[in-house]
Amino acid sequence: MGAEGLIQNAVWVAVLCLASAAAWQALLRTSPIHPLPVHLLPRPPAEGVYAPNFRLNNAVKVGSGLIPGGEDLAVDREGRSFFTGCSDGWIKRVWIDQPDAERVENWTFVGGRPLGLALGPMDELIVCAGDRGLLNVTGDKVEVLCTEAGGLPFKTVDGVDVTKEGVVYFTELTYKYSPKDILLGVFEYLPHGRLLKYDPITKSATVLLTDLYFPNAVALSKKEDFFIYCETVIFRCRKYWLEGEKAGKVETFIENLPGFPDNVILDDDGTYWIGLIGERNIFWDLAAKYTSLRHLLLRISSFINLDPFLFPTAGVVGVREDGEAIAYYSDPKRSFITSGVKMGGRLYFVSLHENSIGRSPANFPDQ
Ligand SMILES: *[C@@H]1O[C@H](CO)[C@@H](O)[C@H](O)[C@H]1NC(C)=O
Ligand SMILES: *[C@@H]1O[C@H](CO)[C@@H](O)[C@H](O)[C@H]1NC(C)=O
Repeated sequence: MGAEGLIQNAVWVAVLCLASAAAWQALLRTSPIHPLPVHLLPRPPAEGVYAPNFRLNNAVKVGSGLIPGGEDLAVDREGRSFFTGCSDGWIKRVWIDQPDAERVENWTFVGGRPLGLALGPMDELIVCAGDRGLLNVTGDKVEVLCTEAGGLPFKTVDGVDVTKEGVVYFTELTYKYSPKDILLGVFEYLPHGRLLKYDPITKSATVLLTDLYFPNAVALSKKEDFFIYCETVIFRCRKYWLEGEKAGKVETFIENLPGFPDNVILDDDGTYWIGLIGERNIFWDLAAKYTSLRHLLLRISSFINLDPFLFPTAGVVGVREDGEAIAYYSDPKRSFITSGVKMGGRLYFVSLHENSIGRSPANFPDQ
């Protein structure tokens, strides 16, 4: 190559560099999010209980086509059926009283995006419906209980449980984004979540905690002396004490889960079942650390589906009351399992990416 060729190449390289720098500046300037780096604990080793497995691989599909994007499960008092909220605004009731012959009932249309659900003392279904607020559903009647707390209107109320007195504990993933814009909140990765309490006497909601990282799920203990809530994007669940000298205090339940925790359901044997929407991996860790990568991924996400890279392998983990993980059911082919529970030896689960409920074989062992 002559001197002229070298100069020509150098000019091209310079032009390309300038163009990319300008494009990068434009990307940052026009990005809708204002993220900060997040420091995470090192990923837990994929061994022991968390060893990779395909245990949900041959789960049966129940109610194919009738349960689009089921998000949470609420089991009735007798354990004969459960409710799940679908992406089309319907609450479906799935009858499991005849083993291996489940029936799906179109229970009630509530509209919005029904997420977390829990049964109240009058057998009413309390529903977190994203930006529609907190609902009380009895038969065909849908009552809006509240739509704001602490002066901020709800954007994405999500996880919920109800005490025997009808006091409702619930979470708001983020006070900034509604369900349709939730990806912005995920990439921004800031603690905009809140833990809330609805009092049926005053008929209003108060704020218990702020600055949480996507708080999802509320699961009261059997004695109702504490409840568990999870912070999805920092892979941990905590205990909020309601009674005793620790009342009002928060302590660790389980940290550094292998994936993103979503809803939590307590079964009759005292195991807390946590849906894991995806496993944590190197892509996520890099995105947590480097905010510029998040701006870029957000832009790319309007063209291609990034879920398989950011959230591979969904599952359900079982945790004892003392915080020890005792079971992990997963499947690399599934994604966005938001809720699961083991009943009568079978594990039932729902996924935002499926249109049915999954059911494991009978007598499914924990290990
Ligand atoms: C329930 O809703 C589904 C649509 O989600 C519909 O196809 C089905 O016919 C409905 N079933 C009944 C019994 O109304
Ligand atoms: C929900 O509505 C039912 C029927 O009106 C009522 O008995 C119940 O107390 C309500 N629940 C809450 C938490 O407000």
